Amino acid sequence: MRLTTGLSQKWTVLFSFLSLFSCLIGPALAVKEHDFKKCDQAGFCKRNRAYADNAASQSSTWVSPYQAIVESPTLKDGQLQAVILKTINANGDTVRLPLTISFLQSGVARVSIDEERRQNKDIELRHNSIARKERYNEAEKWIIVGGLEPDQQAEIVHQEGSQINVKYGPEGKFEAVIRLSPFEIDFRRDGASHIKFNERGLLNVEHWRPKIERPEGEENSTEEDESTWWDESFGGNTDSKPRGPESIALDISFHGYEHVYGIPEHTGPLSLKETRGGDGNFQEPYRMYNADVFEYILDSPMTLYGSIPFMQAHRKDSSVGVFWLNAAETWVDIVKAKGSSNPLSLNSGAPTSTQTHWISESGILDVFVLLGPTPKDVTKKYGELAGYTAMPQEFAIGYHQCRWNYISDDDVKDVDKRFDKFKIPYDVIWLDIEYTDGIKYFTWDPHSFTDPIGMGKQLDSHGRKLVVIIDPHIKKTDGYPINEQLQSQDLAVHDKEGKIYDGHCWPGQSNWIDCFNPKAREWWKTLYKYDKFKGTMENTFIWNDMNEPSVFDGPETSMPRDNLHHDNWEHRDVHNLNGMTFHHATFEALQTRKKGELRRPFVLTRSFYAGSQRFGAMWTGDNLADWGHLQGSIPMVLNQGVSGFPFAGADVAGFFGDPEKDLLARWYQAGAFYPFFRGHAHIDARRREPYLLGEPYTAIVTAALRLRYSLLPSWYTMFFYANRDGDPILRPMFWTHPSEEGGLTIDDQFFVGSTGLLVKPIVEKDKFSTDIWIPDDEVYYDYTTYNVAKTQKGKHVTYDAPLDRIPMLMRGGHIITRRDIPRRSSSAMRFDDYTLVISVSKNGEAEGELYVDDGDSYEYEDGQYIYRKFSLNGDVLTSVDPEGRDARKIKSGKWLKAMRDVHVSRIIVVGAPASWNRQEVQVESEGRTWSATVEYHAAENGRAAFATVNGVRARVGEDWSIKLA
Ligand code: GLC
Repeated sequence: MRLTTGLSQKWTVLFSFLSLFSCLIGPALAVKEHDFKKCDQAGFCKRNRAYADNAASQSSTWVSPYQAIVESPTLKDGQLQAVILKTINANGDTVRLPLTISFLQSGVARVSIDEERRQNKDIELRHNSIARKERYNEAEKWIIVGGLEPDQQAEIVHQEGSQINVKYGPEGKFEAVIRLSPFEIDFRRDGASHIKFNERGLLNVEHWRPKIERPEGEENSTEEDESTWWDESFGGNTDSKPRGPESIALDISFHGYEHVYGIPEHTGPLSLKETRGGDGNFQEPYRMYNADVFEYILDSPMTLYGSIPFMQAHRKDSSVGVFWLNAAETWVDIVKAKGSSNPLSLNSGAPTSTQTHWISESGILDVFVLLGPTPKDVTKKYGELAGYTAMPQEFAIGYHQCRWNYISDDDVKDVDKRFDKFKIPYDVIWLDIEYTDGIKYFTWDPHSFTDPIGMGKQLDSHGRKLVVIIDPHIKKTDGYPINEQLQSQDLAVHDKEGKIYDGHCWPGQSNWIDCFNPKAREWWKTLYKYDKFKGTMENTFIWNDMNEPSVFDGPETSMPRDNLHHDNWEHRDVHNLNGMTFHHATFEALQTRKKGELRRPFVLTRSFYAGSQRFGAMWTGDNLADWGHLQGSIPMVLNQGVSGFPFAGADVAGFFGDPEKDLLARWYQAGAFYPFFRGHAHIDARRREPYLLGEPYTAIVTAALRLRYSLLPSWYTMFFYANRDGDPILRPMFWTHPSEEGGLTIDDQFFVGSTGLLVKPIVEKDKFSTDIWIPDDEVYYDYTTYNVAKTQKGKHVTYDAPLDRIPMLMRGGHIITRRDIPRRSSSAMRFDDYTLVISVSKNGEAEGELYVDDGDSYEYEDGQYIYRKFSLNGDVLTSVDPEGRDARKIKSGKWLKAMRDVHVSRIIVVGAPASWNRQEVQVESEGRTWSATVEYHAAENGRAAFATVNGVRARVGEDWSIKLA
């Protein structure tokens, strides 16, 4: 059971009852599902789905009741202002919905729709509510960090009757064809339609209206079914809905696109499924309403802990995307229409299109349209808006050892020692909630953690770190100054009446910090100062959990939607943003722990939204120690990368339960490729630190960890790209090979960034070989044996993978950087020499990059980094600075100075031609020449020829070249 600790008796009793009940009626997982809403249990989702059904049933006769009128039909600063009139009855009465279409310099277009009456606060709230009257329009403030410069070149190129054509974007390649009545927008690239808004007429803005109280027994004389408009109950909780129905919805069609990706966090395949039933399809729309869905089920559109309402559509040679900027509960229906956007069409020869229907509970409608054409263009433009992955602390991409819980400071010190004894590398050990004094954050248990500083110092003595958990629920108890301050300074979330909201979480009765409140965020910063949070040191970092927020006795294990945040915005309006504001506040708190100390924070979050990538890593929450969850983790992590938040991983080797040892071994082998790599286990799970496993398991896990550590320089370089361009760190086939149709649904193998490493972890029991799909005509070498894969583009190669082998190929044409001396932590490797591994392409070439900085501070912003491009052209291997900086002219700080003594010491060339069979080569750098020795191994038995160049001694930060033949 999950709730074994820190709970009030009442809750434990309730939970035992639920568990017993669940055993009686069937498998426990079914019960969890029923704790969360289905579409027809969320009034606004049900209404909008019914609206869609109604429109579809009327097919050709359906006319959307929304038409735009353009009051001054000119573009000003790339913006077109108009008003949409929604006809609300047979008399032709209308509601005014202001519309802004913005064309941005980046080539992105933005469409926003608000409700005039609510802009003017000209509505009445029910139940004497003190909530805001406007539609929530502040999501932008939290999420958008750039990319809004208007496209001054955008112009109206054609205007006739009810249609306006605007050309915009790079070289005017994009065009928005705006039809006024009924309102519709067709986004075109190079003359062809790619994305259409309201083509199916499902635009719906539920305008405000008063509730007509009718005497009992009197029927509603209008045709509208009001049964879901007002107060709404689910699972014993009633939402007072003081503004009544207020949803927004829109259909967005991707023309000629059969595959769409994104909108995490869900289980199921990377290429999203249809959601309107049919063979193998879902019945329910994908839901985004951040929630504590522990023991979640696989292959489901159910909501999970975080949401990113960004969707990318892809077909051969073209990618486009949309970003639905709305922080309220959102559902997305997906159907695929063969041949035409009209599902009833018989035109089966034409390409399939994907039709999506987006439905949000409240807020303004605000959508960004990205027209590609490559997956990279789409992720890059999205990142310009929502921000890119923060450069991580270097230790954060090493291995993290966690469990609920290490029980004392002695326990931590012992685990630390045992890792060393068994020569198993790790960087960080974690403390879950039990380290606190009665789940009061910012305290230590006085009996079991008597000397946190002693513990921190031991870890620090080998460059290791400690992460401690801090959740957003603050225990409501006398004599706890943090809660007293929260209350007295009025920094908590309020209930619908404006009183401080009380609910249950780990500590029992609690209050929740409201990070929408700037004063609360300022206060949060003060709590992390070293002299305030005593027992923490410079090597202490933070884990933010339960920030959906999770409230054990709240509706759907979260907060009532009519709760109030800062400025009286209702919780429903900001729910999906809530976790990110907390994560953001903690990130800033770590940046300001000590005056003058400018270091990168590390904060792990469970809940997230678009933009959370700027503040740290995420993990996929409370999974199960079974093979299905291992398998399911791969598409989940890939989808995070495609959706702009690549610093992701799943609990290795499953949170709930005790993994069998084969599963554990395979999970570490997969985990070694999660961008965020952490072992974690539930409090009731048996201990499973790698050294406890016994052989061969300890050795297998150690090998996986060492593989991760040897490749850290490459991983760090991939984070650099994620930070600069938004590139995913693990890349699915459609992203790396956008022209290959055969790869568009593959989600069980991936490339590690641009390293050319193609990996397909084994995720099934008793499986000792696998087939890897080969996306191109390049040569592929086995990573460990250098055998050449006998295969060709579009075909599979069978890879033997006994328990101690990870299916892993090197694509010809890449140069990767490693550090090959096994050490105990990343910090111990900081000044180790590098090995370059070159996999020679069919054409005899290769290239790769290395980015390195101090892995800790922001000095890289002042040029304190090394950035190299390695190229093999013909027989010559060179290292140059791709930015053309002259290494000698950079004023070196301490770290850069120390890096003067770090070299590329060894080069392994896989696929080296026979002409390189020699004993010595000349290295040339900084006007000097010296020789290095070569060992050449001719090709044999399917293994490629390879040469190892030893004693290279070329400074990693300098230009150099080597003539290999
Ligand atoms: C939540 C987290 C889990 C953690 C537990 C106790 O269930 O998802 O990782 O161990 O809370 O803090």
